[in-house]
Amino acid sequence: MRQAGRINAEALAAACAIIRPGTTTADLNAAAEEVLARYGCYSPFKNYPGPYPYPASVCTSINEELVHGIPSPKRKLKEGDIVSLDCGTVYQGFVGDSAVTVGVGEISPVARRLLEVTEQALEIGIAKLVAGNHLGDVSAAVQTFVEGHGFHVTRVYTGHGVGREMHEGPSVPNFGIAGNGILLRNGMTIALEPMVLVGTPHTRVLPDGWTVVSDDGSLTAHFEHSVAITPNGPQILTKLE
Ligand code: MF3
Ligand code: CO
Repeated sequence: MRQAGRINAEALAAACAIIRPGTTTADLNAAAEEVLARYGCYSPFKNYPGPYPYPASVCTSINEELVHGIPSPKRKLKEGDIVSLDCGTVYQGFVGDSAVTVGVGEISPVARRLLEVTEQALEIGIAKLVAGNHLGDVSAAVQTFVEGHGFHVTRVYTGHGVGREMHEGPSVPNFGIAGNGILLRNGMTIALEPMVLVGTPHTRVLPDGWTVVSDDGSLTAHFEHSVAITPNGPQILTKLE
């Protein structure tokens, strides 16, 4: 899983490196795929079951698009956009799953704050991925932090266990009550992924069947890491080195 995670980080970094006005979301997908192919890996997103098999290796979700946006050669990034890149890697039967949200050129103060809060929410949640804690401690920490900054967490989409499959138990909501939920144990591997909305928690799915947007059209952000719970504390698997 460390290998899968490191390769996944490299794929995300390659896609991030070409983010600028004019880059298409299909370009972002191609940049990540090129790295995966170099390692003989593939993304577990490709053909993932849904309304129809997911058609790409990366999800690219811009502005009000929260998650599961489909890369397209027609969709160009523009100055001021924020784009979430979500990528998975299967390496020798083990999965890494991670996402970042990045600004394109100069972004608005609200967008900047949203990115900071969502990334910090991930860090705060990761710090709670410690044996002896309950899953609700993680969820509550994320929710409290996000709502404390006036933003909202989705009630519909969650993080998850990750391992031989991309989506394993338990489901890991970004909302909850401290002390509730399963007891965390060493050896568990969790994909924690705060999905944050500026206006309300509500979402809807576009007619393409995949793209999830904020119901009110407000900005959204998404950060994700796959993390191992170890006796030495949480270890982020989806990092470069
Ligand atoms: N990283 C995502 C998740 O954790 C995205 C997978 S959606 C897919 O659920 F359809 F593209 F696979
Ligand atoms: Co995930």
